[in-house]
Amino acid sequence: MKKTVRDIDVAGKKVLVRCDFNVPMQDGKITDDIRIRSALPTIRYLIEQQAKVILMSHMGRPKGEPKPEYTLKPVADRLAELLEMEVKFIPSPTVVDAEVEAAAAELQGGQVMLLENTRYRKEETKNEEPFTGELAKLGEIFVNDAFGTAHRAHCSTAGLASYMPAVSGFLIEKEVKFLGDAVEDPERPFVAIMGGAKVGDKIPVIENLMKKVDCLIIGGGMSYTFFKAMGYEIGKSILDEESIGLAKELMEKAEAAGVELLLPLDTVCAEEFSNDSRQAIFDRDQIPADMMGMDIGPKTISLYTETLKKAKTIVWNGPCGVFEMPAFAEGTKAIAAALAESGAVTVIGGGDSAAAVEQFGFADKMTHISTGGGASLEFLEGKELPGIACLEDK
Ligand code: 3PG
Repeated sequence: MKKTVRDIDVAGKKVLVRCDFNVPMQDGKITDDIRIRSALPTIRYLIEQQAKVILMSHMGRPKGEPKPEYTLKPVADRLAELLEMEVKFIPSPTVVDAEVEAAAAELQGGQVMLLENTRYRKEETKNEEPFTGELAKLGEIFVNDAFGTAHRAHCSTAGLASYMPAVSGFLIEKEVKFLGDAVEDPERPFVAIMGGAKVGDKIPVIENLMKKVDCLIIGGGMSYTFFKAMGYEIGKSILDEESIGLAKELMEKAEAAGVELLLPLDTVCAEEFSNDSRQAIFDRDQIPADMMGMDIGPKTISLYTETLKKAKTIVWNGPCGVFEMPAFAEGTKAIAAALAESGAVTVIGGGDSAAAVEQFGFADKMTHISTGGGASLEFLEGKELPGIACLEDK
């Protein structure tokens, strides 16, 4: 167990807090602020404790240059609205400079400032000096609450821990509890649903979960690679050619481990990768040469939803079809609804499945929706995340 902000005296101290404010933006506007809202419990606690709060985050991948389209100014504005107080923001192209140092030194207890995008500095993603040292000079305590970036060993996520006491915020504490408990101490039956396009990307997480689950459900684009491995023709469906052998191995491993591995029985196919394409439903061994699988079909939906009804713990990562297109969203929506109604502990890996649950209006019915995409996958793979490993143990 890692220490949290509760385990350390922060009153009156300058506290450097790494958040993941890497939020989706369109035309300079934030389109989803869940990552900002998820950071509020830690920030509010520090304010109450009269800490001097210095927030840090990256945004996008500006590759070590101060690119204006990646400024954190819109985040500072949104935070100020949510906290109903001033959030000081200095748009420094070097993130830290004399003006930023002076502003940090002048902060009073209970005040908040946000630094500019840490990835404006090329050292950040390499975890190199002098940037870590420059950040370190601003504060006395390091709090990491950026779960979404905890799989990166960067100056602001891990490097700072070697300079000062380092503890976790409430978001990291919560993510580790829900993702960790789901996998390590699940109420059974424990069912995992894995979707998404490429089998290759999900192999490590499937292998790790296979050791723990009672049933593994496969959906989405990766199903077609499994079909190919079973000897079926898949028409124009997406294929992860390099992973056909791995898909075969996974099926064999599941059998050897006594894990039920469910693959789609039927699939909604389209002629073109388009919402308006002609569509038809085929059994998995009947996909026509000129069509592609876009979603799970009705037989699959009823098999999967029946299985989910019996589950006591469900972990879901990756959509079951091309849910961004309304014509092919039914499967993913049915799975989201089944989770919402299951009464099980439901944990949603970040990224696309989190977006799907949100889009279909089931977000408040889930036990936990992770704010980390890549980070939650690596966590479920059983890897140690550097942004968490660097924090002090209780
Ligand atoms: C994410 O959105 O997954 C995190 O913010 C990490 O971003 P990165 O993949 O650019 O490191």
